[in-house]
Amino acid sequence: MDASDVETVTVLGAGNMGHGIAEVAALAGYEVRMRDINEEFVGNGYDQIEWSLGKLAEKDQISQGDADAALDRVTPLVDVEEAVAGTDLVIEAVPEKMDIKKDVYADVEEYAPADAVFASNTSSLSITELSEVTDRPERFCGMHFFNPPVRMQLVEVISGTHTADGTLELVEDVAEQMGKTPVRVRKDSPGFIVNRVLVPLMNEAAWIVHEGDATVAEVDSTTKFDIGLPMGSFELADQVGVDVGYHVLEYMHEVLGPAYEPCPLLAEKVENEKLGKKTGEGFYDYE
Ligand code: CAA
Repeated sequence: MDASDVETVTVLGAGNMGHGIAEVAALAGYEVRMRDINEEFVGNGYDQIEWSLGKLAEKDQISQGDADAALDRVTPLVDVEEAVAGTDLVIEAVPEKMDIKKDVYADVEEYAPADAVFASNTSSLSITELSEVTDRPERFCGMHFFNPPVRMQLVEVISGTHTADGTLELVEDVAEQMGKTPVRVRKDSPGFIVNRVLVPLMNEAAWIVHEGDATVAEVDSTTKFDIGLPMGSFELADQVGVDVGYHVLEYMHEVLGPAYEPCPLLAEKVENEKLGKKTGEGFYDYE
């Protein structure tokens, strides 16, 4: 199978990344099945896609007709078998926890066609380790989108130890079909390339505030206006989800060592469910 055979894309998880990836796939013309564990989660994801497509149409970035057609191509589902039977490509975007992801693959491989490709949107976890719990390690790779997927150009395509070249080529071609720029990541190391750079930046910003050396606003104005990033470090943490950055750091800390110790300020936000835009409050208030 190559990219021209891919017609149906299943996205597992309808959270921030899942619904964003489903939207991008639908805009590219794929039939999309978006699956989450209950009607509420999958319904929220669907509503977010509708909102985002509406925004793009409102700003004339796409026509209203294209927005409606893309939404029509998305089928929200809870049943795993329905979501993966007969699919060509599964993109998994469930929470950033090794055990959760492994459980999901055990369910999915039972019903997915033998030649379907599995791609994980993990932000940091080992592609090799995830691939080894499936029956198709050679047809498994990382396909890492950035938040918000509909606006961000880059997709990291990560090779695990067992990934076949044909799998990487297929996934890169699909990313291009989605209008993205794939960058191949040859080494399956924690955080890959982008998060290895970006997440320690968020962590250091948090340590500066935690130690009382500067305020959130001072740090953000520096990263935004002096370093030239499109968002301040704390704005970015709120955008991607404080919990997402925190879980990436926990994993990097565990595998790469003490330099990646997560700042307690991030842990405190996660404990209090102040996760950023998605919960209405993080380092900033969105109510
Ligand atoms: N769909 C449609 N519209 C959206 C949207 C979406 N998903 N998200 C935001 N918008 C809209 C907003 O509602 C707002 O609309 P209004 O103007 O009508 O209010 C508009 O887009 C915001 O546009 P702005 O003019 O304020 O901002 P911008 O267009 O210049 O850029 C941005 C927005 C692209 C998000 C930019 O700020 C940016 O690039 N930020 C950095 C994002 C980034 O680095 N992401 C990667 C994070 S790391 C990651 O994701 C990896 C991981 O694994 C943790």
